Amino acid sequence: MTPLQLAANENPLGLPASAREAVARVLSGADRYPDANGTVLRRALAQRLQVPEEGIVLGSGSSEILTMAAQALVRPGEGIVSSQYGFIVYTQAARLVHAKHVVVPARNFGHDLRAMLEAIDASTRLVYVANPNNPTGNFIEGSELLAFLERVPGHCAVLLDEAYTEYLEPQQRYDAVGWTKRLPQLLVARTFSKAYGLAGLRVGYGIAQPALAARLNALRPRFNVTTPALAAAAAALADEDFLERTRETNRQGMAQLSRGFAQLGLRALPSAGNFVLVEVGDGAAVARALAQRGILVSTLEPYGLPRWLRISTGLADQNAQVLQALGALKLSPTA
Ligand SMILES: Cc1ncc(COP(=O)(O)O)c(C=O)c1O
Repeated sequence: MTPLQLAANENPLGLPASAREAVARVLSGADRYPDANGTVLRRALAQRLQVPEEGIVLGSGSSEILTMAAQALVRPGEGIVSSQYGFIVYTQAARLVHAKHVVVPARNFGHDLRAMLEAIDASTRLVYVANPNNPTGNFIEGSELLAFLERVPGHCAVLLDEAYTEYLEPQQRYDAVGWTKRLPQLLVARTFSKAYGLAGLRVGYGIAQPALAARLNALRPRFNVTTPALAAAAAALADEDFLERTRETNRQGMAQLSRGFAQLGLRALPSAGNFVLVEVGDGAAVARALAQRGILVSTLEPYGLPRWLRISTGLADQNAQVLQALGALKLSPTA
C-alpha cells in the first residue's frame, strides 16, 4: 500500500493536468540542453509580476534561491540572521558559506522582528524571513513586515521566503514584489513546489531589483532548471483554475483538521500555510505509530519542537484518516 504522504507540504491535488501535458509536449526535446535563460518562464513571470525579466532568478526549487543568496551575498565570517523555528535550509546555507549565523529566539512561535532588527550588526549581510513560516505556519501582517524591511540597514539584504504565499486569504495578501521596486536589498523567493503542485520538478524563483538579481544570476548553475520543469512551471503559472482549486482544498482541509484536533483535545497552532503544527506529546513515538498505519507526517526534533508534529493538509478522506488514526492513539499530551 502506498503510504499517505502528509510530511512535506505538497499539493494533495497532484500534478496539474496542464503541467503534465506541457511536459509531454517538450519531452522529445530533452536530448538537448535546456534554455539556460529560461526565457519563456522568466518572461511569463515578469509579465505576471510586473517586473523586468532581469529582476528574476530561476532556481532548482526555491531552496536553490535561498542558498544562492547566501553564496552571492555573504563571505566567511559575515553574518546571517534568521528566526528560531526557521526553515532548515537557512541553517544549511549559513554553514555552506561559513557565515556567523545568529538565530533570534521566536516570539509566540513566530519571528520577533524587533529582536531580529537588533541582531543586525555591521557584519550582517543577509536576513531570512519566511511568511508564512515553515514549520510553525505563523503569518506576519504586511504592514508589520514592511515597517521591518524599511528599517533594515542598507548593507544587509533580506530574503523574504514566500514559499506558501499563494495560500494566503485575500485579506492577508500584501505586495512584496511591488516593494522590491523601492527596496534595493529585498529579495523575494517563491516556489512551484507547493500550491502549483510541482515539487518533484524543482522550480523556484527569486524577484529583486536587477542589480541584486544579477549577483545571484552570476553564480547560478547554467542549466539548473530542466526543460520539463520550465515547461511545467509556465503551464502551471497560467492555470488559475488549478490554483483556485488548490486554495479551496486547503481551506477545507485546514478547517477539517482544526475541528478534528479540537475534538481530540489536541492543541494546534493557527497556520497560514498548507500544514499545521499539532502538539502530541512524544512526537517521534506518535509519528512512528502513524507510520505503522501508513500515514507519514513530519517530526520536528531538528527544530527543537519534539512534542509537536507537522501535518500537511490533504484531501477530505486523507484528513479524516489522519484524525481517525490520532484518535485511536488516545493521546493526552497535556496530562
Ligand atoms: C519555508 C520554505 N521555503 C522554501 C522551501 C523550499 O521549497 P522548494 O525548494 O521545493 O521550492 C520550503 C519547502 O518546504 C519551505 O517550507
